This record gives sequence, structure tokens and C-alpha cells, in this order.
Amino acid sequence: MRSYSLIAPAKINLYLEILGDRPDGYHELVMVMQSVDLADQIDLRSNGTETMRVQCDHPLVPNDTSNLAYRAAHLMSQQFPKAFAQFGAVDITIHKHIPVGAGLAGGSTNAAAVLVGLDLLWELGLTQPEIQELGALLGSDVPFCVTGGTALATGRGEQLDALLDLDKLYVVLAKYRSLSVSTPWAYQTYRQQFESSYLREPTVQVNRRREVRSGAMLTAIAHRDSAQIGQLLHNDLEKVVLSHYPKVADLQKRFRDRQPLGTMMSGSGPTVFALTHTQAEAQQLSDQMSSAIADPDLELWVSQFSHCGIHVAQ
Ligand code: C5P
Repeated sequence: MRSYSLIAPAKINLYLEILGDRPDGYHELVMVMQSVDLADQIDLRSNGTETMRVQCDHPLVPNDTSNLAYRAAHLMSQQFPKAFAQFGAVDITIHKHIPVGAGLAGGSTNAAAVLVGLDLLWELGLTQPEIQELGALLGSDVPFCVTGGTALATGRGEQLDALLDLDKLYVVLAKYRSLSVSTPWAYQTYRQQFESSYLREPTVQVNRRREVRSGAMLTAIAHRDSAQIGQLLHNDLEKVVLSHYPKVADLQKRFRDRQPLGTMMSGSGPTVFALTHTQAEAQQLSDQMSSAIADPDLELWVSQFSHCGIHVAQ
């Protein structure tokens, strides 16, 4: 029996712009993704059988074939039948710390960990781009989760360009435990509400504006200008999620009133994050939010930018 334990970090979106729809039903995006050190631990253990099994300690995560981590293992068994025959299946144990249905890529990073872990366990010697290509078959955020750090993600979100590692800013993450947002719902609602007006604008003009806006964020990152990064945070999905979930909008307002470097919803939400320079500022902000809102349903985490994607636990 052989085993590996992997650390699977969450991500936040410093920038998420929807450029339009795609023939495959997805949306064409420009995103800046950032890993944070809030992470799950994924244990993979050869089980001496031909049956992949998955188990998670979180009640909302399914322990069956619909789990994205299971699907990653199944994909590997199909892609590498010889290695599967030689080494057999694995038991996947997910120790959840990343909130579920939160816009933090919790499921995607678990799947990325299974791909990286099985590459090691089955001695496949895959390159990172090869693992990312497999990841893209499972979900748009999986390729980023493999490498992590700071990256520009385009296309569906699966085309990646690594960006300069940023100084390790601190992040306060806030989420109501009982709230989760369906990602397909957020994108579909955005499409219904905004696409028609959007398409009426001359393409050249729209393209120029997009370039200016995302270009400013990329410049701020290139200069490691934390104040500018905080100012330029952007997420188009806020336009639909905040109006449907007033509690999420309220979280962001309360963060903003306390003047962090910046505050934004991550991905399709409902997690809202705020950036600070120091851990003390982040802790103070978290404490202030906790006592101001005083709701046992509210969860807060103090985390930090991470330069790591999936890695083997020490
Ligand atoms: O790729 P993934 O399965 O993680 O995406 C979840 C859902 O998010 C998709 O089913 C789709 O509704 C939406 N999505 C999108 N455009 C993207 C990425 C995701 O519409 N570029």
C-alpha cells in the first residue's frame, strides 16, 4: 500500500470580466486568479482493488461518483489504463477546510490534487501542462489550481499565463454558512440580464474598454502595487449575485466602510473578501465584522496570498 497527502489551496478572483458567450455554452472570460493559504488536505491511499472510493468529512460534499475528486480519479484510470492495472485504485479522503459552494474553487482544487497525486502514485511523470490539460476536462478552474500562485486566466478560464508572484497580502474571507450560489445560475442570469445591451455596443469600443480595464490590473500586478490592486478589484458576477443576495451585498458594504485595500466577491460567490497589508489589520477587520454582524451563521477566515498550487504535505 502506498499513499500521498496533498495540500490543495483555495483561490480568489482579483479580477473577473465576462467578455461574451461561447458556442460551447460557457463564457469567454478574463480573470486574475490568486491562491490563498486556506487549503484542504487530500489523502490518496492505494486500496488494492479496482474501485475508486471517496470520502469527505463535510456533510455537503457527496461521497459518490458525482464528487469532482472521484471524477478526476476515474479520468486518470481511463487515460492511463496500464498504470491503473499495475497500481490499482485509491481511497480518496478529503479533509475540508475550504467552504463549499463558496466561489473559492474548493471542488476544483480537490480534483487538481487527485490528478497531481495519482501522477506521483502511479509514477507517470506527467508535466504540469499535461496535468492541466486533463484538469480542463473536469472544470474551468482545475488547471489554475494545479499550479496556483497568481495567473491570468482567459478562454473558459483554462488558458493560463503565470504572473509575477505578489507580496503576500492578507485576506479576510467572509461567508454565511447557510448561503451558497450555483455557478451555472450566476452565469446564466448574467447572460440573460446583460448580454443584449452588451452586444449593441460597437465591438471595437467594447474591446478597447476591456483592454484598458484588465490592463490596469495587470500593470498594478507587474508593479506589485498593492494599493492599486485593491482599487482595481473587479467581478462582473457581482452585478447579478449582489442584487439577489442582499446579505452578500451587506457584507461587502461593511468591509468597505472599514477601508481595507479593497473588497470584492470571489468567483460566483457568495464569499466576499477584503485585502489588507498585515495580519494584525486582517485580524482586526475580521474581529470587527464578527462583532458588528453578530450572526452565528457568519464564518470568517484570515488567510494570506500563497505562491503555491497543489503540493505534497510535509
Ligand atoms: O467549468 P466548470 O464546470 O467549473 O463551470 C461551472 C459552470 O460555470 C458551468 O457549467 C457554466 O455554467 C459556468 N461557466 C461559464 N463560463 C465559464 C466557466 C464556467 O459559463 N468560462
